[in-house]
Amino acid sequence: MDEIHIHGGHALEGTISISGSKNAALPLLALSVAVPGKTTIENVPNLKDTGHMLDILTTMGAQVDRSEDVVSIDASNVTETKAPYDYVRKMRASVVLLGPLLARYRKAQVSLPGGCAIGVRPIDLHLKAFEAMGVKVEIVGGDVIATLEQSKSGEFMFDRVTVTGTINAMILAASLPHEFSLENCAMEPEVEILARTLVQMGAKIEGIGSPSMSIQGCSSFASVQVRNLPDRIETGTYLAAAMITGGKLALEKTQPEHCKSFLAKMEQMGASIAIQGDQIVLEAPKTLQSVDLRTDPYPGFPTDMQAQLMAVLCLAQGKSVITETIFENRFMHVPELNRMGASISIKGASAYVEGVKELKGAPVMATDLRASACLVLAGLAAKGVTKVLRVYHLDRGYENLTQKFLALGAKIERVG
Ligand code: EPZ
Repeated sequence: MDEIHIHGGHALEGTISISGSKNAALPLLALSVAVPGKTTIENVPNLKDTGHMLDILTTMGAQVDRSEDVVSIDASNVTETKAPYDYVRKMRASVVLLGPLLARYRKAQVSLPGGCAIGVRPIDLHLKAFEAMGVKVEIVGGDVIATLEQSKSGEFMFDRVTVTGTINAMILAASLPHEFSLENCAMEPEVEILARTLVQMGAKIEGIGSPSMSIQGCSSFASVQVRNLPDRIETGTYLAAAMITGGKLALEKTQPEHCKSFLAKMEQMGASIAIQGDQIVLEAPKTLQSVDLRTDPYPGFPTDMQAQLMAVLCLAQGKSVITETIFENRFMHVPELNRMGASISIKGASAYVEGVKELKGAPVMATDLRASACLVLAGLAAKGVTKVLRVYHLDRGYENLTQKFLALGAKIERVG
């Protein structure tokens, strides 16, 4: 079984570098298929998910070259407009290939992504946005088959904020020979870097970083070189590790301005935080204070940090209420934390965390990417040995996690 064993109770100390953002790299890599030439992306993390995306692009006929964290993709000879089911089923984020394929070829076939542990995760809003631009969408044999004959100008309002839905719609709109407006857009940094890249490629976009974007497309996307963002969720995960172990940590090559929501919460919990350029230094408090959390679209508190801060709040003084508003099933780490001696109860979309004196090591089961990270954090603080099972989830989103924690003084090893 794929396991991580942790001997907890050691305060983390030291400095590590943050890797490139998974959730910005995936759409940037997918966008390359819309360019009849070469796209170069720097600071691409070496993860299972980015590896999957590169495999998909190669299978579709792109020439992919990687040297360290720089990836160049020559999509000149890509003629395939169907993403291979075998890869797509392993990574639902492949859905971001729809926009680029429609942008270049006016047709696309990508299998409908299944749900995942944290929720049903439909893509109805992606498809509605495409239809508003004139795309004909059919679902045939579990595949989305999209074709665009005559595009339409106008506007589309997202019923709810969707990160990859905004990205997909933005990419197609950036290829249309007229203006199109998108309302109630996601404002995550991942959306912003995609918008700025589309402008570099030739589109005109007003309202980047706001909920309303007006996009004037261009007939063909130019080759570009772009530097990927640092990963804000990896940043938050390591800061949470310093908090839960009572340590002091310096994180380099990150982007503090994208971390404001959880830095504010960590300060309310008693952390001392210093920011200098691309570096964040966090010193944990002697006693953690409880706080209430509510996940919201950016710039609110990110759902991808909910599980990690819940682990820290298990050891805070007093009660904390954590409300998850983005996904319908993102509390699967709760029963596992309770097995380690936490005291958490769930009522509807909220988890009620009663701080306890200590957590005890135990075998626990990871269920999804961020829940896995949460259980590793709990293990780092728990007395005794914690065995986190099914840690393959972690490889999807954290580069060199065990090595980074070892460098910070954790007693951690990957087994099997
Ligand atoms: C992105 O997923 C991230 N993944 C997720 O990170 C992140 O949790 C999520 O945004 C929210 O911030 C990538 O960027 C690859 P959504 P995405 O569309 O775009 C509902 C991680 O751990 N919805 O913003 O798929 C949906 O069910 C991952 O790194 C519809 O109903 O999320 C959810 O409840 C997990 N219809 C909510 O909206 C749609 O058409 C937000 O989903 C689309 C979404």
